[in-house]
Amino acid sequence: MTTLILQPYQIETAAELLRKGECVAFPTETVYGLGANALLESAVAKVFIAKGRPANKPLIVHCYDRSQIASLAADWPKEAEVLMEAFWPGPLTLIFKKQPFVPAATSGGGDTVALRFPSHPLAIQLLKATALPIAAPSANKSGGPSPVTAAHVWDDLHGKIAAILDGGPTKGGLESTVLDCRALPFQLVRPGAITLSRLEALAPIKDATVRGGDPELELSAATEMVLVVGAQAVNVIRDQVAICVAKGLKVAVLGFSKSQRPGAVFLDLGNEDDLETAASRLYPLLRRASNSGFDIVFIQGLPERGLGRGVMDRLRKTATKILRT
Ligand code: TXA
Ligand code: MG
Repeated sequence: MTTLILQPYQIETAAELLRKGECVAFPTETVYGLGANALLESAVAKVFIAKGRPANKPLIVHCYDRSQIASLAADWPKEAEVLMEAFWPGPLTLIFKKQPFVPAATSGGGDTVALRFPSHPLAIQLLKATALPIAAPSANKSGGPSPVTAAHVWDDLHGKIAAILDGGPTKGGLESTVLDCRALPFQLVRPGAITLSRLEALAPIKDATVRGGDPELELSAATEMVLVVGAQAVNVIRDQVAICVAKGLKVAVLGFSKSQRPGAVFLDLGNEDDLETAASRLYPLLRRASNSGFDIVFIQGLPERGLGRGVMDRLRKTATKILRT
């Protein structure tokens, strides 16, 4: 299949492909998504095939109008409406019990539906032009870092999807925060762009995410990814880099300026006090970390506050090893 690159003025072509049951990648305010008609099982199946995504991993359904909610979700508590009011359109995904006609494939075989209203103007225009709920996971190969440019999507999926709507680089950062709203307290499923403290100010939330190695991002096994956490992280990285460089290994360090070391390529997360910048650089840097033929990448852990919570969640999933200092 030839993958078309579409410009924003060709949005109607993108919408037409989606209406015909094809997959089209498009920008959101977080990362590029790989869209398909959420109500058409055969379209959704193509998303799983293109990404190589396990069939039991549900997709987020992207909407543009509140009137769509009742046709997708069976019911929702009023506490969820407070969150919708505060954060939609924006990077918050809410999980509800699904209506029966949402295909099982969209829900990964379960009985829930995850809804999100993106705020990116091109995403909104595209959704409106299709007049459909659009299922869209991040538009990367399953297991790799999320794409924040059309070129990233091309690298991962060209030849496997009908088109990429190129809206330029996305704002980037983390993907949406995912919250299961079927019962109170709502359960955090994935930390993300909307921080826990902002949600907790408006609704009771339980953080059910596991703080451990859930290998979701499986970067090239050829590159060892060592996440170094704790008070001595900078010193341990210094010593380990020296040892690896002396052995003739190709080494990189992903972290803040204090972790920059001679002999190692520095993948710069920016200033330690600016977690927003660190989050926005994360995926492009992880892409470089995995694509550049490094033998080993040392990753400096971040404080687990604010956006750091979600960044650390992604780093733990990326790491092949975690060193606690
Ligand atoms: O910002 C984002 O959320 C991006 C853009 C494209 O919207 N999308 C995204 O989708 O990150 P994806 O598929 O890469 O990640 C969605 C996460 C997965 O961890 C998935 O398991 C979880 O949300 N999820 C989706 N639907 C769910 C459901 N019904 N129940 C539980 N978890 C769900
Ligand atoms: Mg993803």
